[in-house]
Amino acid sequence: RTGQSYELAILPGDGIGNEVMPEALRVLDAVGAKHGIRFRYRNFDWNCETYKITGRMMPEDGLDRLRDHDSILLGAVGWPGVPDHISLWGLLLPIRRAFDQYVNLRPVRLLPGVTPPVRDKAPGDIDFWVVRENTEGEYSQLGGRQGEGTENEMVLQTAAFTRRGTDRILRYAFELARRLGKPHVTSATKSNGIYYSMPYWDERFAAIAAEYPDVRVDQDHIDILCARFVMSPERFDVVVASNLFGDILSDLGPGVTGTIGVAPSGNINPERVHPSTFEPVHGSAPDIAGKGIANPIGQIWSAALMLDHLGEAEAGADVVAAIESVLSDDSAPRTPDLGGTASTEDLGKAVAAAV
Ligand code: NAI
Ligand code: MG
Repeated sequence: RTGQSYELAILPGDGIGNEVMPEALRVLDAVGAKHGIRFRYRNFDWNCETYKITGRMMPEDGLDRLRDHDSILLGAVGWPGVPDHISLWGLLLPIRRAFDQYVNLRPVRLLPGVTPPVRDKAPGDIDFWVVRENTEGEYSQLGGRQGEGTENEMVLQTAAFTRRGTDRILRYAFELARRLGKPHVTSATKSNGIYYSMPYWDERFAAIAAEYPDVRVDQDHIDILCARFVMSPERFDVVVASNLFGDILSDLGPGVTGTIGVAPSGNINPERVHPSTFEPVHGSAPDIAGKGIANPIGQIWSAALMLDHLGEAEAGADVVAAIESVLSDDSAPRTPDLGGTASTEDLGKAVAAAV
C-alpha cells in the first residue's frame, strides 16, 4: 500500500546469513520503490561470534528490543565451536516462544530452472503449503527418566495437545486455504496408531472443518502422506500437521521439488500481536561462507513471505515472480549450487532488476 512504512529487525546471524541478507534488502528496496512502500532496517549483530565474547546469543533485554518491529528477518544462526543447542535455545526458540509464533509456514513449489528429483513434473504441478504447529505437540518437555543405568532404565516423552493450540493451527490452515483461493486442506494424522492425541487431532479437525463448509478436506495417515508427497504431489493445496509430523513434511516437501537450498519459511504469530520471523530453511553453510557464492534466493523468498504477512500481497507476488523469471532465464546469473558461476550479489541484483 502506497505510503506504508515498516520497521524491520534484521538479524543476519552467522556465516552466509551475512552474505544473503544484503540481497534480500536490495530486493525489498526495489519492490518498495515500485509500490511506494518504505522499509526501515534496524540491524542486530547477534550471533555465535557475540556469544563467544559475551556468553549470550542475545542481550538480556533482547526480546524487548525486537518487540516493537513489524517483522523480523533472520539469516542463519549456528557456527562450529558453539554447540547448536546453544544457538537454538539462546536465540531462535526464545523468539518463537516469546512472540507466540505458533505457525511454521513453508511453501512447496516447483520452480522453473530447478531439476526436481521426481520425474515428469513441471512448474505448476507442485504448488502447495505446509502449515506446521510450532509450539506444542510432540516437542514438549514433559516426561521423565528413571532407573538410569540399570536394566530397568526407562524414559517417558509425553506429547501435549491443547484445545487452544490444536484449534488455532487448524483454523489458520483453513483461513490460508480460503485466502489462497485453493479451498482444500489435508490433515496429517496417525489415529490408527497413536491412541489419544491423534484421534483428538482428527476430532478437532472435523469440528473446525464444519466452520468452513466451502473448504474440501482430506485426512491422510502420516506414512501414506509421505508417500503421496513423492508419488502425487499435485493433489495437495494446504497440508496441516502437528509439530513432529510438520517438521518432517516441511523438509520432505521442498526436498521433492529439489529446492531445499532455496526454500523459505515463516514463524508466524497470525494475530499480529507480536512480530513474526521469516528465515531461509538453510543454515550458515560454514563450508562456503566468506566466498560470496551462496544462493540468496532462500533469503529473498523469505522476504516475500514477510510481505504477504504484512498485507503487501502484490509486492510479495512480484518478488516471487521475479525469482521465477530469473530462474527460467538461461542467460541469467546462477550460483554454483544451481550449476553456474555467478556470485551471491550477481543473483541478488538480477532478482532486484526483475522486480
Ligand atoms: P547448512 O544449511 O548450513 O548447509 C548444508 C549444505 O547446503 C552445505 O553444503 C551448504 O554449503 C549448502 N547450502 C546451504 N545454504 C546454501 C545456500 N544459500 N547456497 C548454496 N549452498 C547452500 O546446514 P549445516 O551445514 O547442517 O549447518 C551449518 C550450521 O547452520 C549449523 O551450526 C546449524 O546448526 C546451522 N543451521 C541453522 C539453521 C537456522 O538458522 N534456522 C538451519 C539449519 C542449520
Ligand atoms: Mg526440520
